[in-house]
Amino acid sequence: MVPLKRRKVSWTGGASTSDSRDDASKFPQVVLFLLERKMGTSRRIFLTELGRKKGFRVDEVFTENVTHVISEKNSGDEVRGWLSSQGHGSTPAHLVDISWLTESLSAGCPAHILQRHRLTERQTSSRDEAAAFSMPVYACQRRTTLDHRNAVFTEALSLLAENAELSEDGGRAVAFRRAAATLKAFPEQVTDARQLRGCPCLGRHSLGVIQDILENGTSREVEATRRSERFQALKLLTGIFGVGTKTAAQWFREGIRNLPQLLQSGCALNGAQRAGVAHYDDLTQDVTKAEADVVGRIVEEAVGAELPGARVVLVGGFRRGKPSGHDVDFLITHPQEGREEGLIPKVVARLEARDFLLYHKSSRNSYAEANVAPARPARPARPASSMDHFERCLSIWKVPTPEPHSHRDDAAPRRGECRRWRAARVDLVVCPFSQFAFALLGWTGSKLFERELRRWAAHRKDMSLSSHALYDNKQREFLPAATEEEIFAHLALEYVPPSERNA
Ligand code: CTP
Ligand code: MN
Ligand code: MN
Repeated sequence: MVPLKRRKVSWTGGASTSDSRDDASKFPQVVLFLLERKMGTSRRIFLTELGRKKGFRVDEVFTENVTHVISEKNSGDEVRGWLSSQGHGSTPAHLVDISWLTESLSAGCPAHILQRHRLTERQTSSRDEAAAFSMPVYACQRRTTLDHRNAVFTEALSLLAENAELSEDGGRAVAFRRAAATLKAFPEQVTDARQLRGCPCLGRHSLGVIQDILENGTSREVEATRRSERFQALKLLTGIFGVGTKTAAQWFREGIRNLPQLLQSGCALNGAQRAGVAHYDDLTQDVTKAEADVVGRIVEEAVGAELPGARVVLVGGFRRGKPSGHDVDFLITHPQEGREEGLIPKVVARLEARDFLLYHKSSRNSYAEANVAPARPARPARPASSMDHFERCLSIWKVPTPEPHSHRDDAAPRRGECRRWRAARVDLVVCPFSQFAFALLGWTGSKLFERELRRWAAHRKDMSLSSHALYDNKQREFLPAATEEEIFAHLALEYVPPSERNA
């Protein structure tokens, strides 16, 4: 199977050519660029389309060709700050207010630039404010390391995001996640909400939480949520391997709040959930890097024995440099495409023979059936889907520990004897070699970074990114890549290494 349409694409490391629309332009000496900050994505897209309909050339990416930078509710300093952050601080382009565009659109031709159209300068008082102005909107345009200065705020916002996820309010959850990501990337410790003026993705709600913490040391909403019975019960129940938000909500409605109540309730549990309950204590303890490395050596040995020459890469949070995580993720491939097919059942059999597996559920590759890999150059059916179709194994392992593993048994001596292992979650994913770069990028995370990459691809580049491929909707072709760097280049993004994808 050759899953990708292999077509040579000519690109020169950027989006410059695909954004040129001079052919459609009635006013060749005018090139517009709409600044998204404060305007928002949907309004920018709407105005872009309207402008183009009226015969204006509107570019998606700022280049030296741009003659008019149009923004809304920004001061001249703010726009200049953004331009500098993109390396275009000295552009001769006019910086004009949205009113210039609306007047031009209704006149059907570029309006004369009057004084009231020009952006007024505003004194920036602090260094922090200047820093904020240059923060790009999408998390995949930023570098987010593990250490940052605003943990009190990011933890509070993450808790609200988690609560929204548990309540299946995806939109609100993403808004809180984005707000937290903005603070993770903020270069200074926030001591005054005014520092955040002009920062992207901070809505009224998130700013209110930040303000509350600044004034009172804590946020009432966050503390009330943390204490709420519903949040605590849903967190505990979804903490069981195999239990999602829907099941947990159903159990909550039935009055179940904790493990003993769940077991007494007589609720039918599936195999994954039974394993999740049996190993609950271990699985709620983070896996350390040292434990991940032990698992890594065992996986390499098993994979190497079944398929010599295969590559095993530690992905997920550990690839981003995290010292611990809720599981261990591995991506496996082989340079000879096709050799990797059916590897999982063989590796699982080998691991079972050595008694490493407490639970596993494997699935084969379903990319061909998934209606996302068209034989003809059609667009993938579900462009922004985050689910992939690789051969995989979700498992719970007995991870050998150097010392008899006793600290949990001391607390709950139900297992009696000391054991030399701990239970830990392990994900094994197998991908065809031609999709390796996409799978590597997709499985390195963080989840928000991935989401932002796909959103950037869709909204800014008219492309569909998945863990399998990158598809250019305009050119109607797949853009192959052998490395993550090439994918960033296709997307006209600066390369961000794994350790800086901790958004
Ligand atoms: N992922 C995915 N498809 C899945 C599960 C996960 O593409 N069905 C991706 C996620 O988007 C993430 C990466 O695989 O980028 C790792 O997922 P996960 O293990 O859940 O998160 P980590 O970032 O590794 O966090 P932790 O360290 O807590 O495990
Ligand atoms: Mn992980
Ligand atoms: Mn995982």
